[in-house]
Amino acid sequence: MIRPDRLRTEYLSDPLGVETPAPRLSWWLEADAGAKAQSAYEIEVSSPGSSSPDLWASGRVESPRQAHIEYAGRPLQSRQVCDWRVRVWDEGGQVSDWSTPARWEMGLLEPSDWQARWVRHVGATPARPSLFRRAFTARSGLARARLYATAHGIYVAHVNGIRVSDAALRPGWTDYATRTQYQVYDVTSLVSAGENVLAAVVADGWFSGHVAMVGRHIYGKRPALLAQLEITFEDGTIQVLGSGSGMRASHGGWLSGDLLMGETVDARLASVAWMRAGFDDRTWSKARVRTKPAPALTAEVNEPVRPIEEVAAVAAFPSTTGDATVFDMGVNLVGRVRLRMQGSAGTEVTLRHAEILDAEGALYTENLRTAKQTDTYILAGDRQGETFEPSFTFHGFRYVEVKGLGSSLPLETCTGVVLSSGFPITGGFECSEPMLNALQANIVRGMRGNFVDIPTDCPQRDERAGWMGDAQIFVRTATGNAAVAPFFTKWLRDVVEACGPAGFRDVSPMPVMFKTPGAPGWGDAGVIVPWTMYRVYGDTRALEMMYPEMKHWVDDKVQANPDLLWREARGNDYGDWLAVREEASKEVVASAYLAHSLDLTSQAAGVLHEADERKHYRDLFERARAAFRAAYLGPEGMREPSQTACVLALQFDLLEPREREVVLAQLVERIDAASGHLTTGFLGVEHLLWALDLGGRLDIAHDLLVKRTFPSWGYSIDHGATTIWERWDGWTQESGFQDPAMNSFNHYSLGAVGAWMYGRLLGLDLDPEVPGFGKASICPRPGGEITWASGWQETMAGRYEVAWRIRGQVFELDVQVPVNAVAEVQLPHNGVPTTVGSGRHHFETAWVAQR
Ligand code: BGC
Repeated sequence: MIRPDRLRTEYLSDPLGVETPAPRLSWWLEADAGAKAQSAYEIEVSSPGSSSPDLWASGRVESPRQAHIEYAGRPLQSRQVCDWRVRVWDEGGQVSDWSTPARWEMGLLEPSDWQARWVRHVGATPARPSLFRRAFTARSGLARARLYATAHGIYVAHVNGIRVSDAALRPGWTDYATRTQYQVYDVTSLVSAGENVLAAVVADGWFSGHVAMVGRHIYGKRPALLAQLEITFEDGTIQVLGSGSGMRASHGGWLSGDLLMGETVDARLASVAWMRAGFDDRTWSKARVRTKPAPALTAEVNEPVRPIEEVAAVAAFPSTTGDATVFDMGVNLVGRVRLRMQGSAGTEVTLRHAEILDAEGALYTENLRTAKQTDTYILAGDRQGETFEPSFTFHGFRYVEVKGLGSSLPLETCTGVVLSSGFPITGGFECSEPMLNALQANIVRGMRGNFVDIPTDCPQRDERAGWMGDAQIFVRTATGNAAVAPFFTKWLRDVVEACGPAGFRDVSPMPVMFKTPGAPGWGDAGVIVPWTMYRVYGDTRALEMMYPEMKHWVDDKVQANPDLLWREARGNDYGDWLAVREEASKEVVASAYLAHSLDLTSQAAGVLHEADERKHYRDLFERARAAFRAAYLGPEGMREPSQTACVLALQFDLLEPREREVVLAQLVERIDAASGHLTTGFLGVEHLLWALDLGGRLDIAHDLLVKRTFPSWGYSIDHGATTIWERWDGWTQESGFQDPAMNSFNHYSLGAVGAWMYGRLLGLDLDPEVPGFGKASICPRPGGEITWASGWQETMAGRYEVAWRIRGQVFELDVQVPVNAVAEVQLPHNGVPTTVGSGRHHFETAWVAQR
């Protein structure tokens, strides 16, 4: 018998504030021994308390599908609560019990649902966070309470002094003029009969604080708040109140709060009394109600940024100047610190953050450019001690220098609070080579630290922008490590909204300065990311949403380049950004990407049943491919050879079989010419090991992966990297630090090798034909000195596990395939693939060492 489990709505468990009229329902399957597959399902959706499925009864549907079943019942209203359950039939016709019910709740679907008004703090000191409060009386008999809130800026809301959520940096970053996400909080347990207080602190955030290298006020000059509290009583009556003319505003302990610069708190001015009932706010100013039309609001679809981990400092030592304590957090993390301290009132404590120390042991901050990453705390003088943890900023750092309290603060007074978008980690990888385990940890840490509401390039300097190229090369690795579908769903909307006359941009959301048309490999993210979402999660909705802009993007290039070589209109053209020792021809890279995007657009059309368009873009791809070969390929291979040019030609399917061999040989030569090293930048690195491995040179792929000399992943790890560096040569023994104008030690891009470690070294990958992991390809590719690898991935279809080891002359493989899924298993040295169904399987084959 099989049983449905882990019910999810729009990827999330029991979400509040769903907005789509047809939420997609998914589940996993558990099984007793024997049962393997689902043959049918039945879904029931009901209003709470209803004894029948009053909203939707799917009836029995003969189908193995367990993901993305669209709700097709009665039209849903704002705030509607929907309880749902599912039962399934196995392949023998045995029906399961009904699942434990799951729930979703609709958001505010109509603009008229909003009675609260946007408010601002008139007379606020610029750049200083504002406090907003509104007292209200509730009667008894409360049944439920919801807070719908957002801000232009970033906000933290409280009801009766209690923070409504641990989420941070909300509402996150969107192009606020076009779309602002609101959040929904269940505050039922926080509201009580009698006097209550709804309170919020609002800081500049991305809206009016410093953004990238653009400066301040990108979206507006003054932050604003929107908050609507709805209290439903047992008798069905509803009390609605929120921001509006009844709200009052003031300043409190926060003197500043800026994402890039840092935060300043004067604890002498801070109090919590204002958030509670009984506080006299008559001296506060009346909040000013916005009269201009409000921007469009949409419910938050992604998991918010939140503290995901706490890290204890591993060392504390006096600063080189002798007057401060430096804490070493052990790893380069993203977030802020919580500092416990004691001192006299008025003592000023400053915290400077840096990723690295210079040769003298001082904080190296040149690479932050204009970002200050400095927090200041002025003590209230509490004899019991006091604690500071900033709320409206985040930093990329391993070291924090605390000045103002001497040079010997105890180690345990400083804790690192790691911030990241709150998606769960759903994949793991480990093997016998410790350096590769460190690499995997660095990839995940770098991803965590740079997935802060949007995929940013880096978390420390004055940039932290949604660079599209970085996102597209890393997206496949990201999906291996974590459940990032909601994260990318939200970001793809940002991508659409950033589009200009030529389609996708380089950066999304797009602050004014990045107005240029998208560059090769950067704009193409608008094609590649939704395609990856479709492949990994079976998400056709993301593809549908993006498809018009995908066409727009390629059409624009085709129009500017009728011969289908991307010579014109390449925007800022970064080429194979940050390659070392060798530069790929920018035109070749661009033309390869144009062909690739045509290919994917054609495939997307196929998925969306646009047969004519599928053919149209397929023909264009074929023509682009022919043009590419005619222009850039000679009898010896690529006319302007570089590792990246060879790799892209191979991986984007631009060559005929015979040519593939020549170009592969050329790639091997290019690696030899670099004395066995890679030279690839951002665009080549993702595909390098795949090209070698699929071309039959697994030996070289392994060699590059475990290399320790410069340039290599191992080199940075041997020199202290705990995240992925922006550049291969971020620091070298010969030259020290690279140009501080662009030298981040936490950029995830070059970590795009993670997809190969999962897909081939471990051997757990998507089947090329089946989206959503209903079928996996299990094809371990051991090599070098590696004697075992093990890993797992939780997918829409359930959890896969793979573990292999070499024991003398025997290669052993254990796999776990989820219920209702299959895997095609191919053992090393053994040409015949076997297809296995759900359950645990063990394989053995003779092992012949490869060298
Ligand atoms: C960013 C990159 C980005 C690039 C564009 C840099 O400043 O940090 O990661 O993709 O610009 O070339």
